[in-house]
Amino acid sequence: EKGGYDSFMEKEINEQPKAVEDTLLGRTDAEGRLTLDELRISPEQLKNTSKIIVLACGTAAYAGTVAKYAIEHWTRIPVEVELAHEFRYRDPIIDASTLVVSISQSGETMDTLMAVRYAKEQGARTLSICNTNGSTIPRESDAVLYLHAGPEIAVASTKAFLAMIAASYLLGLYLAQLRGQLFSGQISDILADLHKIPAKIQTILDSAVDIKSLAQAMAQTPSVLFLGRHVGFPVAMEGALKLKELAYIHAEGFAAGELKHGPIALIEEGQPVFVVVPSPRGRDSLHGKVVSNIQEVRARGAKTITVAEEGDEAVREFSENVFFVPETQPLLMPLLTTVPLQIFACALASEKGYDVDQPRNLAKSVTVE
Ligand code: F6R
Repeated sequence: EKGGYDSFMEKEINEQPKAVEDTLLGRTDAEGRLTLDELRISPEQLKNTSKIIVLACGTAAYAGTVAKYAIEHWTRIPVEVELAHEFRYRDPIIDASTLVVSISQSGETMDTLMAVRYAKEQGARTLSICNTNGSTIPRESDAVLYLHAGPEIAVASTKAFLAMIAASYLLGLYLAQLRGQLFSGQISDILADLHKIPAKIQTILDSAVDIKSLAQAMAQTPSVLFLGRHVGFPVAMEGALKLKELAYIHAEGFAAGELKHGPIALIEEGQPVFVVVPSPRGRDSLHGKVVSNIQEVRARGAKTITVAEEGDEAVREFSENVFFVPETQPLLMPLLTTVPLQIFACALASEKGYDVDQPRNLAKSVTVE
């Protein structure tokens, strides 16, 4: 049932083009307007959302951070992202115009469920982005967007992460459509670019051999750092989490802008640093700033490994290894830049002989608080 792969994890990493495609599938009605799976609140209420709070844990919370960048940009609704287990303990400000968006693969994560229940009690509207049909969180929510990514068996999340991000984009575009925030032409342009993503993921999977051989060569490394900025920041966090979970290696993700505020002190000769490089076609001088970060850590002896957009020749000179991903809109890049980091963690853990499907101390569905 592993479809010829050594592990469910490898199978699920390789299923990602299909997972994203299935998440995007059948989302428009006869008039070409976006729809949700289940809507138990009026579109009018959703339209009048004054604030969005995204609640999730672990990998799902990193998908939530990507969602924040995209949804704020497209809808101009303020978005907060909060770890679900912290939410109830800070006296959050909620009213009937607050939309609480929970993100969960299993739909059974107790921390997330309790946060959603609390938000409902406080009068918020709740929307669930979830992979498991009929699970508790979507059943208790006012609206649902299912991922349709198929069952995820490996304990550590991979294809659900990409599907969550894709679903968050759909939600952002749906809200933008309700509010008339984007022209329908802009929405269909973004959707068209989203539909091109699965084939682009496939080209990354097809060149996985280079990433795998780097992972094998690095099996003895005690620590790996990950840097990213803008939507690359949660990708860096996810890259670090995958390495901790699968390979039991100390790994930390940082926002690249934080480097000089502390973490740069960690850099010594030979320290591997992954850098998720923003698109050179993105906003302002972000790309240049991240290239400077690569130079800064390299000057202090770091082994720099970059994930960058195809054609970004500026990074090559400062990278010991560079993995290129195909071009897309800057906001959509996480659907591509995540993939090399997943392959790296999975290959490194396999090289060490670990069971990548059942990492120690972890459970697929965390049903206790
Ligand atoms: C990471 C991982 C966990 C889950 C988290 C939330 O690989 O599997 O961090 O993402 O426990 O789980 P769900 O999405 O089921 O709510």
